[in-house]
Amino acid sequence: MSDIKKMTDWEKLTAMLKDSHEEEKTRVIDEAALNLHLKSRVKGQDQIVEDVSKLLRLRALVEKRSKPICSMLFLGPTGTGKTELAKAIAEFLYGHEKNMLRFDCSELSSGGMGKSRLVGSAPGFVGSESGGQLTRPMFANPKRVVLFDEIEKADSSVFDLFLQMLGDGRLTEQSTGKTADFTESVIILTSNALAEEVSKSIQGVDDPHEKLNAMKTYLSDSKVFRPEILGRFDKIYLFNPLDGFTVAEVAIQKIAKLAGDYGLTIDFVAPELIMSALKSNEKISKFGIRELERIIFEMFADQMVVAKKNGQKKVKCEISAEGQVKIAG
Ligand SMILES: Nc1ncnc2c1ncn2[C@@H]1O[C@H](COP(=O)(O)OP(=O)(O)O)[C@@H](O)[C@H]1O
Ligand SMILES: [Mg+2]
Repeated sequence: MSDIKKMTDWEKLTAMLKDSHEEEKTRVIDEAALNLHLKSRVKGQDQIVEDVSKLLRLRALVEKRSKPICSMLFLGPTGTGKTELAKAIAEFLYGHEKNMLRFDCSELSSGGMGKSRLVGSAPGFVGSESGGQLTRPMFANPKRVVLFDEIEKADSSVFDLFLQMLGDGRLTEQSTGKTADFTESVIILTSNALAEEVSKSIQGVDDPHEKLNAMKTYLSDSKVFRPEILGRFDKIYLFNPLDGFTVAEVAIQKIAKLAGDYGLTIDFVAPELIMSALKSNEKISKFGIRELERIIFEMFADQMVVAKKNGQKKVKCEISAEGQVKIAG
């Protein structure tokens, strides 16, 4: 009897090892194309973008992966392109930025509720039929970027889930016992806590490995992050604050995007208009770059609609004698 039992266990073990979890999942990423794509969306963070492109290519080639393709921690001030980069990665790797699943950890902080939101509540508890907001979409499509914002705000039960997801590449839904697979996904966690302090802690350090170590030491000493999570990331990146030139680049990008939304293409934008948008933005700069889109909408939308109505396609954004926006073909 006990022999048969042993036999069964052995079979189970073999089956487990053969589990789809360990299947070959190699995929080839065109690093140069990825790099170009990311840079077209994320400005002023070239070093990070280049490193991310390389890391993704190398990690995606790993055979028998039992962890996510890649897990990264994005640190840095708000409005510097962290979410934008995550979206751009989703767009390139998974076809559309909608294939990014995003969670705001400040909403996952109330004692234990965060965990059941992500992986469902135990059978019999309220809401257990609907499953987890993280696990369900992963069952439907495991090829995703999964983004957790402001992770320092997550409670410790959510942190435990992070550790499991990053370390084992899987999470079990509490309500059903079904397992969600993360080995085909890219996990990104972000935090703007301590951006300035971290940046000071690595001042003057040039060597990338020393830099990373200094950052990890600082973050772990400051007790914002549990040290064991810092060891689970493939990479940690510190985003730079955007300089004026980069904000101008983003402004042009946003003007072109707004025009595109109205079915127009932009041929030229008067520098004075960009300066004026930047000035308005600076006045309310405590919101960083987030107000820029609204400012540009207010400056340009009216005239763009008129231009479109007049049957124009390719337009120049100029400044009238009265200092107003003038859009003409
Ligand atoms: N480096 C950047 N390059 C291009 N756009 C940026 C950059 N940083 C911020 N933005 C713009 O500002 C907005 C907020 O950026 P986001 O990536 O969400 O900031 P965060 O770093 O706080 O996640 C986005 O709409 C994005 O278009
Ligand atoms: Mg963000």
